[in-house]
Amino acid sequence: MLRTHTCGELRLTDAHKTVTLSGWVQKSRDLGGMTFIDLRDRYGITQLAFNMETNGTLCEQARKCGREFVLQVTGKVIERSSKNSNIPTGEIEIEVTTLNILNQAITPPFTIEENTDGGDDIRMKYRYLDLRRANVRANLELRHKVSQQTRTFLDNQSFIEVETPVLIKSTPEGARDFVVPSRMNPGEFYALPQSPQTFKQLLMVSGFDRYYQIVKCFRDEDLRADRQPEFTQIDCEMSFVEQEDILNMFEGLVKHLFKQVKGIDIDSLPRMTYADAMKYYGCDKPDTRFDMRFVELNEIVKGKNFPVFDNAELVVGICAKGCAEYTRKQLDELTDFVKRPQVGATGLVYARLNADGTIKSSVDKFYDEAALKQWAEAFKAQPGDLILLLAGQADKTRKALNELRLEMGTRLGLRDKNTFSCLWVVDFPLLEFNEDENRYFAMHHPFTAPKPEDIHLLNDFATLANVRANAYDMVINGVEVGGGSVRIYDKTMQARMFEVLGFTSEEAQHQFGFLMNAFEFGAPPHAGIAFGFDRLCSLFGGADSIRDFIAFPKNNSGRDVMIDAPSTIDDKQLKELNIKLNIM
Ligand code: AMO
Repeated sequence: MLRTHTCGELRLTDAHKTVTLSGWVQKSRDLGGMTFIDLRDRYGITQLAFNMETNGTLCEQARKCGREFVLQVTGKVIERSSKNSNIPTGEIEIEVTTLNILNQAITPPFTIEENTDGGDDIRMKYRYLDLRRANVRANLELRHKVSQQTRTFLDNQSFIEVETPVLIKSTPEGARDFVVPSRMNPGEFYALPQSPQTFKQLLMVSGFDRYYQIVKCFRDEDLRADRQPEFTQIDCEMSFVEQEDILNMFEGLVKHLFKQVKGIDIDSLPRMTYADAMKYYGCDKPDTRFDMRFVELNEIVKGKNFPVFDNAELVVGICAKGCAEYTRKQLDELTDFVKRPQVGATGLVYARLNADGTIKSSVDKFYDEAALKQWAEAFKAQPGDLILLLAGQADKTRKALNELRLEMGTRLGLRDKNTFSCLWVVDFPLLEFNEDENRYFAMHHPFTAPKPEDIHLLNDFATLANVRANAYDMVINGVEVGGGSVRIYDKTMQARMFEVLGFTSEEAQHQFGFLMNAFEFGAPPHAGIAFGFDRLCSLFGGADSIRDFIAFPKNNSGRDVMIDAPSTIDDKQLKELNIKLNIM
C-alpha cells in the first residue's frame, strides 16, 4: 500500500512513529524557513512540515507542489508547536523525510473547501472535484450508512433482496417513461422502470413473501428540489399481511434508521386520514413540526355584506402566534406572497389581536368588534396573535393556505431541520379525476386495492371519487418519504379496476395481461411500500435538495453537465436502431 495511515488518524499518541501518508494538497504555506502543506484524503487533513535548514532540497520540492497535487510522503510524527484545535490531527505534524509527487494537478476551477467559491453550475460540471469537499463527501457517507442500516434491518426481518429488470415494458399510467429503442426488435422500445411495482407483485406470486430492493427508478417528469429523473427507492413487498402489518413493519424500519443514523428515538407514528390532512393542512403531506391548523369560518363570516366572503365556497384561515405586531410592510409582503401565481390567492384578510384585548382587521368595515371576537374564539387566539384568512374555491384556497402556512412556519423559525415530525397519512382516495383527459386515474397506481367497505361505490360513476384505498404515505417534515398500498390480488377485481380507469379489456390484457394471468396461479394477499431513498438521506442530512445526496445528479433540465448527457447519437447508431429523426 502507498500509505501506512490515513490523513485523519494520527494523534499525539503516535508521536515518534515513522509513517507514510498519501493524499491531495489542500493548501501550502511558505514561511521562508519552513514550508507547510495540508495533506487531505477521505479521512481528514494532516499537516506536513518541511524544514529549509535541515533539508533544503526537499523543501524546494515541496514549494513546487500546487493545490490538488497528489503526494506520498514519509516522515516522523512530531508534536506541533502551534496546535490547531479545529481538526482531530491538530496536535501533530509530519516531519517529512521523503516526498514522492504521485501526480501533478492543474488549478481546480473552484476551491475544494466547505465554503467553496464555486457556483452550482461549475461544481456540477466538475462534480468529481466537488465530491472531494468534506461536506459533500459526508453526504455520501451518510447515504451509505442509511443503505447499510436499511439492509441490516430488513435482513433481520427475513426480507431478501431480489434484482428486477431495468429494460421493461412501457405503461401508460403514472409519469412519463424513459424509453430505449431495441436494435433487435425494430420499431419496438423498452421502458426504464418507474418502479419495480409489477415485478415485486410477481415475486409475491412466486412465494418470496418478504422482498426488498434498493433500486434505481426512472421518471420523465418535471424536476424540483426533491425530484430527480433517476432516483433510488427502498422498494418492499410482503405477502399474507394487512395494512396494519405494513405500517408496523416500516415504522420499525424508520425508527431503526433514525436511531442508528441520527441517534434519535422516534415515537410511534401518528396517523392522519387523507381527508383530515386536506381539511386541516390543505395538503396530503403536512409539515407537523408546527401546529397552525386550518380553521374554517364559513358559518361565522357569511352574511355580513362582504362580497369576497359571501361569494366564496370556503373561508379558511390560520392563526400565527405572536404576530399581531406585524408591520404594514410585513403584511403587504404576505399579501404579495399569496397573490403570486404559484400560490394563486386573490387577496389576504387579516385580524390582529392587540395586547390590550382589542381586535383590528383589514375588513373592519364589514365586521365589528363582536364579530371579530367570534373569529378569535374559533381560532382560540390569544392577545398578540395574528389571524390570516383566505377565501375562494375550496380546493384552491386550501392549497394556497397550505403555502401561506408553510411560509409562516419558516418565518417563525418553526421548521428546524434538526427536529423531525413523522406521520402516516392513510385512507387516500383510490381515484383522481383528470379534467384534461376527462377520466379517472389511479391516485397511487392501478394495483391498489379499494377499502372493502367502499367496493360497492365502484359500481356507480357518480360515487367513484368517494372510493377510498388501502393506501398510505409516510410523511416526515412535510416531505412524502414513502408510499404504498394493499394490492388487488384477485383477477376479477384487477380487471374491474382497469375498466374504471378506461381501459378496454383488450388494452388491459395487452398492457398488464402478464400480471392478471399470474393472478390466476394462486396470488397471495400482499401489500407493500417504497421509500424515496434520496429524500430520506436529504432529510437525515438536513438539506432541502436531494441532489446533494446523489453522487452524480442531473440538473434542473435533466442534464448531466459533467458527461454532457443526453446527447445526439451518430447516424450509424440511428440506422442500426431503425430510427429516423424528425425534430421540428
Ligand atoms: P411512489 O410513486 O409513491 O410509489 O414512489 C415512492 C417514493 O419514491 C419517492 N419518489 C421520488 N424521489 C425522487 N425523485 C422522484 N422523481 C421521485 N418520485 C418518487 C417518493 C415516493 O414516496 N411502486 C410504488 C410504491 C408501492 O406502492 O409499493 C411507488 O413507486 O419519496
